[in-house]
Amino acid sequence: MTNNIIIVFVSFILLVSGCQKKNKQYSNLDMFPKDHHSFADPIKAVINNLELDLEVNFERSILIGTAKITFQCNGADTIKLDSYDLNIKNISEFKSENNLESIDFDLGLKDPTLGSELTIYPKKQITGDYTIIINYETSPAAKALQWLNPEQTNGKTKPFLFTQSQAILARTWIPLQDSPGIRFTYKAKIKAPIGMMALMSASNPTKLSPDGIYEFEMNQPIPSYLMALAVGDISFQATGPRTGVYSEPEILSSASWEFGETENMIQAAEKLYGPYEWERYDLLVLPASFPFGGMENPRLTFLTPTVITGDRSLVALIAHELAHSWSGNLVTNGSWNDFWLNEGFTVYFENRIMESVYGKDYSDMLRKLSHSDLISEVDELMVNRPNDTKLSIDLIGRNPDDGVTAIAYDKGFHFLLVVESLVGRKNFDEFLKAYFKSYKFQSITTTEFIKYLRTNLLDDYQWESADLENWIYGVGLPDNCPLVSPKKFLAVESSVNLFLNNGKTPDSTSTWSTQEWLHFLQILGENKISKTELSILDNQFKFTTTNNAEILSSWFIIAIPANYQNDNFNIKVREFLTKVGRRKFLTPIYKALLDAKQEVFAEEIYTVAREGYHSVAQETLDDLFENVVLSKEAKESD
Ligand code: BES
Ligand code: ZN
Repeated sequence: MTNNIIIVFVSFILLVSGCQKKNKQYSNLDMFPKDHHSFADPIKAVINNLELDLEVNFERSILIGTAKITFQCNGADTIKLDSYDLNIKNISEFKSENNLESIDFDLGLKDPTLGSELTIYPKKQITGDYTIIINYETSPAAKALQWLNPEQTNGKTKPFLFTQSQAILARTWIPLQDSPGIRFTYKAKIKAPIGMMALMSASNPTKLSPDGIYEFEMNQPIPSYLMALAVGDISFQATGPRTGVYSEPEILSSASWEFGETENMIQAAEKLYGPYEWERYDLLVLPASFPFGGMENPRLTFLTPTVITGDRSLVALIAHELAHSWSGNLVTNGSWNDFWLNEGFTVYFENRIMESVYGKDYSDMLRKLSHSDLISEVDELMVNRPNDTKLSIDLIGRNPDDGVTAIAYDKGFHFLLVVESLVGRKNFDEFLKAYFKSYKFQSITTTEFIKYLRTNLLDDYQWESADLENWIYGVGLPDNCPLVSPKKFLAVESSVNLFLNNGKTPDSTSTWSTQEWLHFLQILGENKISKTELSILDNQFKFTTTNNAEILSSWFIIAIPANYQNDNFNIKVREFLTKVGRRKFLTPIYKALLDAKQEVFAEEIYTVAREGYHSVAQETLDDLFENVVLSKEAKESD
């Protein structure tokens, strides 16, 4: 009896101490998904908490300071971190504020995609908590950071800095374990020039700090790709009790109006899939060089200003970034091969938010536009990169950026629509709600998701009859891909036909939404269209001078191949490519110019505009221009 009590007592102690050894965020240290894009060895040592203390130096375009990192270790004699072009000055063991002991480290050779492995050598083998301080500065070329000079801002008087860490660029401004399967909490102290505001993916100020020092806290564990910082001439305007907009003062009132319905979206989202877990949801509208439409940095979505149209017609982007607060930020793709779990779920969720807030006619138009994007992406990729049409993509040895295609987004979305139609909406919604709840603050791989789906939602018959294995692991687009025909688009299609066949210009377009115009331009572009026809349309609908960046870029993409020119056209093309840095617009426009044998014009613009783009846009466009040069050389030598 006494023995039994002792055994129970001893096992209890072992259990409790065993639990304490493990990272708070992980119940089991072997559960890290394999990540080919990180040097971290999280089974031995995993980041638990980060404390940044950085000064923003605009003169030298660098961040200077320290990263204090606490790891949970499990017999670690070395600790591996990711870094890229960081200048590491020294690393110390942190015992207390005035007890720091310098330790050894080395930086491996630089891989152009992954950067350098940073190996740290603790004085002795460590189990349990271990804290170090890294004294470092970033390089002026740090890929995540874009340092804007005053001319690139709206105010034209102060410089601006913003980060873009997804997918593997956090390591270019912070030494850390840059892997989406690893989460940590963070605090930061940022010293900005006086008169400028600093913001992060964390609790944020709403007013300027008189001494330029700002303190931040993110108490929910996040993966490294959600680390974010922006510094500039930024002001704040509330749009609701837990929502607001940050931007340069010049555009604050138009931005706040444009995004004034965000609270409705949050309520719709919560009703669908459970509580918003991040307290506040604010938006930061960046200068036009921001390379994406949006980036779901927790508590503070970073946004392109190109969605400010004055009519709220592009706010689906907000629904998208907001949806990431569940799909992506709460439940995160295990590795970049599972990127579709972030984006496909988010496009589905975005569409559901849009349906709740703006109605089914509207969300069906978005769904049809997504389908059109999907078809063109599949057609294009099947030529040279068929394997990249798989949802479960193999990015080993490649840049995770190669996986950022319409496949993850739109094929992922359509896969979920198939699942929804198999079980009905009610069941699917319950399933998704439970999924977000059971995996919150965790990462999940495609394999694990499939297991969860087949255990909790689908029987074998449903799985097989809908060809779901093929949807995830196969190339191309399965035959059962669903398609809607929104009523409003039928009218658009008949006006395109009337115009092309009878030369009758569309009337009753005064009520057309941006989405109807986009569909109009998209199907017009599928037909051969003459300069004269383009000119008739341009005269009537003023495409070349529209302020709607989505419509303008679609217009460019159909007008350039027809060699359309008018007094204004080339000026507008140049102006747009020089001002806007959003990659989704830049790539197809430059491509259209190159395909239309306008490489001299394209190169002339790119040579000037390139330095104003963020590194992720530069890399894509450098490849594009390099391929043109290469194929030109190949043709010449034939
Ligand atoms: N998280 C992405 C942006 C991203 C993906 C950056 C991968 C770097 C690597 C963001 O949520 C996104 O999808 N943005 C889209 C929005 C659109 C699909 C509504 C964009 O930028 O266009
Ligand atoms: Zn997204």
